Amino acid sequence: MKKTLVLCFVLLIGLCGCSKKGDDAGLGKDSPAFLLAQELTPVLPALDPAKTVSLVVSRNFKITTVEVIQFLQTSLGNRIQELKALDAQQLKDVVERSAVQMAERKLLINAANDAKTVVPPEELDAALNYQYSRAGGQEVFQKALSDNGLNLEKFKENIRIDLVIQNYLSVLLDREIAVTDEEAVPRRQIVSDAKCETCHENLALHGSNRHNASGYCQICHNPLADDSPYREEEDMPARTIDFKMLIHRIHMGEELENDYTQIGYRGTAHNFNHVVYPGDLRNCAKCHVDDSWMEAKGNLETITHCV
Ligand code: HEC
Ligand code: HEC
Ligand code: HEC
Repeated sequence: MKKTLVLCFVLLIGLCGCSKKGDDAGLGKDSPAFLLAQELTPVLPALDPAKTVSLVVSRNFKITTVEVIQFLQTSLGNRIQELKALDAQQLKDVVERSAVQMAERKLLINAANDAKTVVPPEELDAALNYQYSRAGGQEVFQKALSDNGLNLEKFKENIRIDLVIQNYLSVLLDREIAVTDEEAVPRRQIVSDAKCETCHENLALHGSNRHNASGYCQICHNPLADDSPYREEEDMPARTIDFKMLIHRIHMGEELENDYTQIGYRGTAHNFNHVVYPGDLRNCAKCHVDDSWMEAKGNLETITHCV
């Protein structure tokens, strides 16, 4: 289980290493990333390296087009040249998707750092050895990386960051693990994965890495999040993806009076009006732990308010 997070890293649009300040130096006027950004500018003007457009701005960090190109460079290696074959819309999709990945990752890394999450060296070694053994040995692995124009040190750093995030989340998700640092307060638990899985065999959405409805989904599915990045102007307003709203509404399904459609990646529509819940939604404890629904005990009207 622990290994799953680091599994599909190589050669995919992986996840960004948190860019340290010094990384900007990598985009000197002769650097491959700079030249590529220049070449792509006629297709997507926002990529002009002379302009440095900010795509994500948060209180603690921002992500610029330049950083996205650097990120693609370190994660795609030689395959970065394939970007040149894309049309404007495809390129925009790749840039957008990468910016979202980078932002998610930075948020998690910041949270993990604040909680002073550590990765023991032996854990890092074990994860690296696991990657090597899957590839058929360390040498084969390193050769594959360099053949593809990928950097071993960056790869290791990314694995380390994966582990930091994983360790941070497992403290958050598994309350049995003693939290020694006073500041690392786990999110209170409202529902449990085990309860969801009395009906769902294995709740994994958005690909197999995202399990666990006890806390992980809620990191992104928070009250501020909605589907606006994927919704066309004419279909606005956006729908919230706050976990409470999302999960209540999905299971109301055919009982909902209005259309309930979320817009996902590449504008794919997911409609939930057909869902037939095999039970009684008023049995709140089917999903909730302890008395977490007590705010509105056993009252279907209130759950409708929450949706
Ligand atoms: C009593 C059974 C039951 C319980 C408990 C339950 N679900 Fe469901 N859930 C369903 C059914 C039935 C569907 C509709 C499946 C379908 O239409 O493919 C569904 C659909 C979903 C979907 C949409 C799936 C998709 O593929 O788009 C999500 C997400 C979901 N449930 C999450 C949860 C979470 C999170 C919990 C726990 C907090 C939970 N469910 C608890 C029965 C249940
Ligand atoms: C890293 C962020 C992230 C995590 C973690 C995450 N989601 Fe999502 N999810 C999103 C975003 C963003 C959307 C809206 C746009 C989209 O669909 O891509 C979304 C949309 C959805 C939707 C609406 C249908 C769809 O596919 O668009 C469902 C259902 C869903 N998520 C369920 C879950 C469940 C259940 C979990 C935990 C097992 C989870 N998500 C974990 C980011 C995340
Ligand atoms: C199908 C699963 C499911 C059922 C059944 C369900 N809920 Fe929920 N509920 C959720 C999820 C998921 C959340 C969000 C959990 C989170 O944020 O960690 C939630 C959150 C809530 C919250 C917000 C809790 C908080 O502290 O933020 C309230 C209140 C609530 N539900 C009320 C109810 C009531 C009342 C019922 C029964 C009438 C009910 N729910 C039945 C899945 C369910």
